[in-house]
Amino acid sequence: MGYYKHHVFFCLNERPEGDRQSCNRCGASEMQLHAKDRIKALKLAGPGGVRINKSGCLDRCEEGPVIVIYPEETWYTYVDKSDIDEIIDEHIVNGRPVERLKI
Ligand code: FES
Repeated sequence: MGYYKHHVFFCLNERPEGDRQSCNRCGASEMQLHAKDRIKALKLAGPGGVRINKSGCLDRCEEGPVIVIYPEETWYTYVDKSDIDEIIDEHIVNGRPVERLKI
């Protein structure tokens, strides 16, 4: 097993208004903090568990906001906190990918 069981990257890239779509203009920073808090509350944070990281542009901007979870390399988009909660509860806790949010 890797150092983390699940390593989650949230694109937090932000472009100026009028430019191409970017994840941080869709609330990515708030969602990344929400995910971090929830993983901590579930006592899953740390080595052998889950790491929630920020990332720069992952180059899937038009499909965003995006996250990617390794080692599975599963890509998701999301709209709100309930989508993030579903990804954490289903994919990370129960090992069942959330098909409706995959990209
Ligand atoms: S801005 Fe998020 S993938 Fe490019």
